Amino acid sequence: MTVYSRITGTGSYLPEKVLTNRDLEQFVDTSDEWIFSRTGIRQRHIAADGENTSDLALVASRRALEAAGLEPKDIDLLIVATTTADMVFPSTACLLQAKLGIANCPAFDMQAVCSGFVYALSTADHLVKSGQYRHALIVGAEVYSRILDWKDRGTCVLFGDGAGAVVLSRSKHPGILASRLHADGRYAHILSVPGSVSRGEVCGRPLLQMEGNAVFKLAVKVLGEVAHETLAAAGLAKSELDWLIPHQANIRIIQATAKKLGLSMERVIATVDRHANTSAASVPLALDEAARDGRIKPGQHVMLEGVGGGFTWGAVLLRW
Ligand code: ACO
Repeated sequence: MTVYSRITGTGSYLPEKVLTNRDLEQFVDTSDEWIFSRTGIRQRHIAADGENTSDLALVASRRALEAAGLEPKDIDLLIVATTTADMVFPSTACLLQAKLGIANCPAFDMQAVCSGFVYALSTADHLVKSGQYRHALIVGAEVYSRILDWKDRGTCVLFGDGAGAVVLSRSKHPGILASRLHADGRYAHILSVPGSVSRGEVCGRPLLQMEGNAVFKLAVKVLGEVAHETLAAAGLAKSELDWLIPHQANIRIIQATAKKLGLSMERVIATVDRHANTSAASVPLALDEAARDGRIKPGQHVMLEGVGGGFTWGAVLLRW
């Protein structure tokens, strides 16, 4: 019998504090008009002092488990996609595992920046399909507010904090139909946090830096390419796609990707206006919103797409 994997529950969490573009105008040389017209962003959520990635991940995970009708002890594989780990080590996945009160299952972090959740979901799909795992918990969680230079108006207005999670369970029916992952390290310099910790000191700049125009062009190119590649791998036509859930970096990148797929914006889940770019959390946050409000219906085809630092990109195509 063929073994498949399918998403059986979703959950998400956004920190309480909302920072609007108007709030930003008070301490950054910017305007709501500039930010909204170039990015589609109106506001973002910011984690409280002492609220870490694993804390955000915990709430999102509990909600996903509840939606799946499962207990933490049912989870036998745990992956956290994050760029903003609580500490150098142990992994945020291990810290989350302890907070969930479970032990023994493998737990590890996935570092693929804004593509992290799609990388983690694709990896979990293969591990579940191997037959070794029954219920995987896959989380994307970030506190980007901690790695931003709040004096750099070119980057600090773009990002926010949050977490999203899914339970991926073994199934007789698909589920995940196909996934494709890519990376090209030659573009490492266009989006990075180049600092590191060495001999007890922070070496290099530990804040996000970006060549915005280069990122924009590359993101539009690769998101279109990988969507077509993943549809072909599943043997589906563009016209059979019901929903596109792309990484929520910039509404103009999202619109350009939808156009390449011949999809109207009514078929695209966009949360960038309220969440900004939450990196590895952006896709599961958007997925949870659309799953809970009933937009995504059983049997529909959904394409999840990630793109980000590395440069990394990928897509997961699934039947809901
Ligand atoms: N408020 C006001 N003015 C600003 C701001 C700001 N927040 N930021 C930059 N400007 C100014 C610049 O200083 C520049 O001024 P100048 O002409 O006097 O020199 C002017 O606006 C234009 O700057 P550009 O960088 O050319 O603006 P552009 O229209 O290209 O938009 C942006 C910049 C929004 C960053 C765009 O390049 C973009 O969206 N890139 C994609 C990057 C992205 O989404 N990154 C997210 C992470 S990557 C990922 O997740 C895939």
